[in-house]
Amino acid sequence: MEKKLVLVTGASRGIGQAIFQTLAQVPELIVAGTATSEAGVSSIREMCEVQGLEGSAHVLDVNDDQAVGELLASLLELYQKSPTILVNNAGITQDNLSLRMHQSEWQSVIDINLTAVFNLCQHVMRGMLKQRWGRMINIGSVVGSTGNPGQANYAAAKAGLLGLSRSLALELASRNVTVNVISPGFIETDMTQSLSEVQRQSILERVPLGRMGTGNEVAALVRFLVSDSAAYMTGCNLHINGGMFME
Ligand SMILES: NC(=O)c1ccc[n+]([C@@H]2O[C@H](COP(=O)([O-])OP(=O)(O)OC[C@H]3O[C@@H](n4cnc5c(N)ncnc54)[C@H](OP(=O)(O)O)[C@@H]3O)[C@@H](O)[C@H]2O)c1
Repeated sequence: MEKKLVLVTGASRGIGQAIFQTLAQVPELIVAGTATSEAGVSSIREMCEVQGLEGSAHVLDVNDDQAVGELLASLLELYQKSPTILVNNAGITQDNLSLRMHQSEWQSVIDINLTAVFNLCQHVMRGMLKQRWGRMINIGSVVGSTGNPGQANYAAAKAGLLGLSRSLALELASRNVTVNVISPGFIETDMTQSLSEVQRQSILERVPLGRMGTGNEVAALVRFLVSDSAAYMTGCNLHINGGMFME
């Protein structure tokens, strides 16, 4: 059986690293992962070597549309195929209360967490339409549904992902391309590492399961969404948050 090519953005750390690892263990998949620096690329390569995983690592700033085009061209050269599975995982936070939020804090979070996701989807969609098969998985956040003080930029970007993903799901369904969002709550990664002990405790009080989630738990959902068992799911928002938000 011909292997499918997966592209995972932000695979050097945290949730993206767990997604890379999980998908690279699936025999029918080859995974290409990105990081913003050579150091990040080296860490993905080292992980592949140590764990005996098949895959490749590439420098990419998702904000740089030209670089996205170049990456896809180099993947085509390397594997003679285009990705038919895209996991838009790369994301940043730049928190501030709205009263004090600088234009640059607003813009960079919207650019990386929302505009870049649209651009990447647009770049890979032609290959998926040609194959009449594709899976797009966008990593959102619980705050896209709940809002969060100090995160108007991040919550707006993640809420925007829902409208974007549902629209793409409608546009692409007739060609068997599905588009879904996974919205994690608080997951143990560098992004949550910077929280103070007081912040951490106050978060845990809001999580009925009483702990933060792990990257592997999010990756397991991605694994499901790329499998044949999820073929009839599109336009969905899957929450994984220990019960802190239910709908
Ligand atoms: N952790 C949580 O509690 C949580 C909760 C809800 C949603 N999420 C979402 O889950 C996703 C991953 O979060 P995480 O906690 O794993 O984050 P993380 O540990 O901070 O890692 C972020 C990843 O994104 C990459 N990245 C950052 N800016 C980029 C850019 N301009 N271009 C390309 N890649 C870029 C980073 O690459 P480098 O290593 O090169 O910097 C890194 O691989 C994000 O979309 C985040 O919003 C996280």
